[in-house]
Amino acid sequence: TYIVIDNCIACKYTDCVEVCPVDCFYEGENMLVIHPDECIDCGVCEPECPADAIRPDTEPDMEQWVTFNRKYAVQWPVIVTKKDPLPGYEDRDGETGKLAKYFS
Ligand code: SF4
Ligand code: F3S
Repeated sequence: TYIVIDNCIACKYTDCVEVCPVDCFYEGENMLVIHPDECIDCGVCEPECPADAIRPDTEPDMEQWVTFNRKYAVQWPVIVTKKDPLPGYEDRDGETGKLAKYFS
């Protein structure tokens, strides 16, 4: 499966939702998550993210992010249409420690 990591937080470009064949992105206030059980592992979303926020769960230390994505995917509404990124996204892109700083 693929999952969204904290690089998405406070940017939320949403290019990813346009390409997902199974519509498994879910939208929170300042980031998206992927439902890990709905993702068919096609990989097409990964290169679409300008913030490099989409990763395969085969990368090291992704277990916490799989749990995180699963938790919020069942709480947040599905998003299937691209929208404008969040205000200030250029400044937030590439920042570290976004989960503690901005996630809500
Ligand atoms: Fe959707 Fe494919 Fe990305 Fe999974 S890997 S979230 S199925 S586009
Ligand atoms: Fe987030 Fe990247 Fe999608 S910033 S909204 S995962 S295109």
